[in-house]
Amino acid sequence: MRRPMIAGNWKMNKTPAETVALIQELKKIQPKGNVEVVVCPMTVSLFAAGAQLKGTEIKLGAQNVHFEDKGAFTGEANCASLKELGVEYVILGHSERRQYFGETDETVNKKVLKVLANGLKPIICVGESLEQKQTGITNEVVCLQTKAALCGVSNAQITDVVIAYEPVWAIGTGMTATASDANRTIAAIRRAVREMFGDAAEQVRILYGGSMNDKNANELMSQPEIDGGLIGGASLVAEKFEKVVNYHG
Ligand code: PGA
Repeated sequence: MRRPMIAGNWKMNKTPAETVALIQELKKIQPKGNVEVVVCPMTVSLFAAGAQLKGTEIKLGAQNVHFEDKGAFTGEANCASLKELGVEYVILGHSERRQYFGETDETVNKKVLKVLANGLKPIICVGESLEQKQTGITNEVVCLQTKAALCGVSNAQITDVVIAYEPVWAIGTGMTATASDANRTIAAIRRAVREMFGDAAEQVRILYGGSMNDKNANELMSQPEIDGGLIGGASLVAEKFEKVVNYHG
């Protein structure tokens, strides 16, 4: 019922020229089934990416956006510009942005509302730290982050929202949550969405992210609650990303 999504988060990798080269490789991928494929290059590579992706089935995503329409916000980018470049999705609240750039539940929420108001779709990242996991408060942490991010979202908008459960300790470390743990936590996130939006929660896609790759994608994607993946490292190599996209084997 929920369309699977495999999204590549390229982080601060791939210049515009390198972006063009990688997209030319990715365009050769023939996704099996109904998988929606998204790539999220650096802001400065979005223009080149948008031009390359025109007329293809691959969707374009950004990694961040500002929550105001325009004005004195040196170094930031706004939703209107992303839309002009062909962006459809925007990753928000990634743990690296929370950790290194002062992103908070409050700013994530403002960005979610702005993105939706502009007809873009947020991919909202939530996840617990290793310490929080060891303390046994994973569900509390991710449900609070989820609910805080969704404050003020309307019932009409919630089906445009994508959530990515990314345990912070699993990002870029080679450590993944076990498929069953990831499934359980994502089920808890869905219950939190249900408390706010009722049955519409069944239509909200919730991805897993954190060292997901060509080797473990099949097992993770076999879980009933896991609707897709947000892929970092493995999205930068066309052959690996292709295997994740075609996780059915
Ligand atoms: P990773 O990154 O796949 O390299 O762990 C995932 C992410 O941060 O979105």
